Amino acid sequence: MKDKFGREIDYLRVSVTDKCNLRCIYCMDEKDNSFLKNDEKLTDDEIYRIVKESSKLGIKKVRITGGEPLVRPDLVNLVSKINSIPGIEEIYLTTNGILLADMIDELAVNGLKGVNISLDSLNEERFNKLTRLGKLNKVLEAIDKAIALGIKVKLNTVIVNDINKDEIIDFVNLTKEKEIDVRFIELMPIGIAINYKGATNEDVLKVISENYSDYEEVVRSKSGGPASYIKLKNAKGKIGFISAISNCFCEECNRIRLTPEGFLKQCLHFDYGIDLKSKLRTGITDEELRKLIYDNIYDKPEKHLFLEKSDHKELKFMNQIGG
Ligand code: GTP
Ligand code: 5AD
Ligand code: SF4
Repeated sequence: MKDKFGREIDYLRVSVTDKCNLRCIYCMDEKDNSFLKNDEKLTDDEIYRIVKESSKLGIKKVRITGGEPLVRPDLVNLVSKINSIPGIEEIYLTTNGILLADMIDELAVNGLKGVNISLDSLNEERFNKLTRLGKLNKVLEAIDKAIALGIKVKLNTVIVNDINKDEIIDFVNLTKEKEIDVRFIELMPIGIAINYKGATNEDVLKVISENYSDYEEVVRSKSGGPASYIKLKNAKGKIGFISAISNCFCEECNRIRLTPEGFLKQCLHFDYGIDLKSKLRTGITDEELRKLIYDNIYDKPEKHLFLEKSDHKELKFMNQIGG
């Protein structure tokens, strides 16, 4: 379906938990353990119902996010249920990769088409500093296993000034060796991230240009997501840039979000949306549910206002929203 600005909305991001097994410095407080209780989160059946009614409105692609989605018990079962919904054509996952190697076979059998894996450093010591709890070798193992299974892999890399700027070329070089896309994400001022300064994608491209001249721009497909891409000559994968701050992509936005506690969010940046969980739990027909989803999609804001003042700014942390 189209929203009031004529954008085709066919993509639902479903955050299944706010819990995470890491504590990335720009995402969560080190001691944060104040997660939602189980009965505050949507059940598998409730998520299934929302996705089913959304699919009747034209949602074709689902991305499972978190927190870290793989810490939700029995995620494979949920993926399998979503995969059984007739209108859902593609299911993807955004993960930190720590638990992925052990689960990817089962996820692939149940319909998973691709994974976006967050990785900000290829250096173990630094990876530990950035994630506070991570095991780099588990993430690298998951990447290779996914590629071997034919699952599409994209890496999400946030460059934080003074921490990992010197690794830009190491990440770029991965696209020469492996069938993966590496995407540089500009740090967005959400939650605790306001305390850090991220490199702009212009800075990142400058570093790449100083090292390589043989790259070409990849033509951007409409509704192809927030990243724009370049490719090194003879490389296996592409290099992407997600530049929410320096190059707003809201005009092409194709997505809505469901938070773990069942709030249907119209836009990453605002608190606008509707609490579907309480509606589901007080009793609602499928038609009524579909109408609520329709109205919320239709009403999506035109664009984010990260750099401006707004009374409806999202105050939650990234792990509570799902990115
Ligand atoms: P695909 O396009 O399906 O590959 O997914 P994606 O790149 O949108 O998803 P992913 O979960 O890997 O997110 C990568 C980064 O993009 C994260 O930092 C997200 O917060 C950010 N992102 C995803 N969607 C939006 C959006 O609608 N607006 C903004 N500002 N950022 C977004
Ligand atoms: N700005 C941009 N990206 C962020 N992520 C987490 N917090 C932020 C932020 N404030 C990224 C993670 C992960 C992806 C899902 O979102 O690094 O790769
Ligand atoms: Fe967990 Fe992702 Fe946040 Fe890191 S950025 S703490 S992996 S939710």
